Amino acid sequence: MNTVKAIYPGSFDPLTNGHLDLIARAAKIFDHLVVSILRNSSKNPLFTVEERVAMLSEGTAEFDNVSVATFDGLLVDFAREQRAHAVVRGIRAISDYEYEFQMALMNRRLSPDVETIFLMPDAKYSFVSSRLVKGVFRLGGSVDGLVPKFVVERLKDKSRTSIPEPSQ
Ligand SMILES: Nc1ncnc2c1ncn2[C@@H]1O[C@H](COP(=O)(O)OP(=O)(O)OP(=O)(O)O)[C@@H](O)[C@H]1O
Ligand SMILES: [Mg+2]
Repeated sequence: MNTVKAIYPGSFDPLTNGHLDLIARAAKIFDHLVVSILRNSSKNPLFTVEERVAMLSEGTAEFDNVSVATFDGLLVDFAREQRAHAVVRGIRAISDYEYEFQMALMNRRLSPDVETIFLMPDAKYSFVSSRLVKGVFRLGGSVDGLVPKFVVERLKDKSRTSIPEPSQ
């Protein structure tokens, strides 16, 4: 059978309802979706890779065709290894566009067979990012409804002061 597999890469530090919105959309389009955590990110993560795998596994348990993986190095090498046909990325606002456009064209240059597919979230998640969630939580604001309940609990388990101040 000819199945179409896609990779949804990111840092997921932590998983948000915006990520889950995209995962639900992609799971309807592709036969199989591999949500993939980049291990060697230059971002200084709050949650370990293992914690992020656990959150993603819990958040995607309801989808039969979604799995969770981690990778190092080039996304296109991981895509080839996984025999994936597509990479899924999200566009929230124009601000995402420039970076995503650059990455998509660079990845196409590196691996012409892998297409990048952009999906838009429900408008109610169009302002949600992991970085903003951590920033708001760190200062004592509520992030209910922006991340799954189990992520709120995991944020509470981290001491607020361990959350790095967002740069910029
Ligand atoms: N709320 C959202 N709606 C649509 N796409 C999203 C949303 N949040 C993240 N994405 C997309 O998911 C992919 C992985 O994102 P990433 O792991 O960087 O999440 P993030 O929320 O942007 O985190 P950070 O704030 O640390 O950059 C990217 O393509 C990003 O544009
Ligand atoms: Mg991001």
